[in-house]
Amino acid sequence: MSLEQHVNPKVRYQQQVDNSKAYVLPFIAVHTEIGKQTNVLEVGTGEGGVLKPFLDKGAFCVGVDLNDIRIVLAREYLADELEQGQVVLQTKNIYDDDFKAQYLGFFDVIILKDVIEHVPEQESFIPYLATLLAPGGQIFFGFPPWYMPFGGHQQLCHNKWASKLPWYHILPRPMYHSILKWAGESEGTIQELLEIYDTRISIERFERIIRRSGLQILKRQAYLINPIYRYKFGLKPRKQWKPLTWLPFFRNFVTTCMYYSVGAK
Ligand SMILES: C[S@@+](CC[C@H](N)C(=O)[O-])C[C@H]1O[C@@H](n2cnc3c(N)ncnc32)[C@H](O)[C@@H]1O
Repeated sequence: MSLEQHVNPKVRYQQQVDNSKAYVLPFIAVHTEIGKQTNVLEVGTGEGGVLKPFLDKGAFCVGVDLNDIRIVLAREYLADELEQGQVVLQTKNIYDDDFKAQYLGFFDVIILKDVIEHVPEQESFIPYLATLLAPGGQIFFGFPPWYMPFGGHQQLCHNKWASKLPWYHILPRPMYHSILKWAGESEGTIQELLEIYDTRISIERFERIIRRSGLQILKRQAYLINPIYRYKFGLKPRKQWKPLTWLPFFRNFVTTCMYYSVGAK
């Protein structure tokens, strides 16, 4: 079942802007002052809305995405900033040599919002991201833990019950695949959902990768109700009850979103 933000990119853009202004930027600003002196990279920028509040504060921003259609829309929505040279928007793989050569050690802030769960081989990807950080810089991650009710992103399904049924994504892969086929999902949707299945990023696995990458967690916040749900579903965001966040594994099932600021040790 499609929600309005799935079919209307301008609605999606505005939700990105509102959520970024109210939640993402204030979270990042605890460790990095945002202003004209700040260089920001967003990986998986989509329509570019997350960057807008940073641009409004004068930051120089680079937004990259593998999806060309979304970058074309971002260029339309951020046309003024693009013309002024304040933002660069590219369909780009950040592993490309020219990107690496241009931006090694350059960014004060790198943002991955709802993106890390789509990226394979996170164990090598996250240390690579860190090489793009300027001294004292931070990487922001926001993602839904795999075991949360819709951690498989099954809300993207077109079939009504398949998009509303929680937790069936944690079944063994062949069973999950069969259910998606049975629900009549397209090959594209099935492939996207299985790619997320293969990354399966839990709170524990994410924090282990950060430790093994020689990085440290500067700030973390667990949410019972993801801030973006305010804009998508009209729900009031709620931080997770602290004692629950101390319960390894179980906490994943009742946490719809994690925010992290991560930096060098
Ligand atoms: C769920 S959207 C998030 C968009 C935006 N950050 C937001 O918060 O609304 C995930 C985006 O990440 C992009 N993406 C996934 N893997 C990527 C990668 N390795 N490099 C760049 N973009 C990637 C996808 O194309 C998609 O546009």
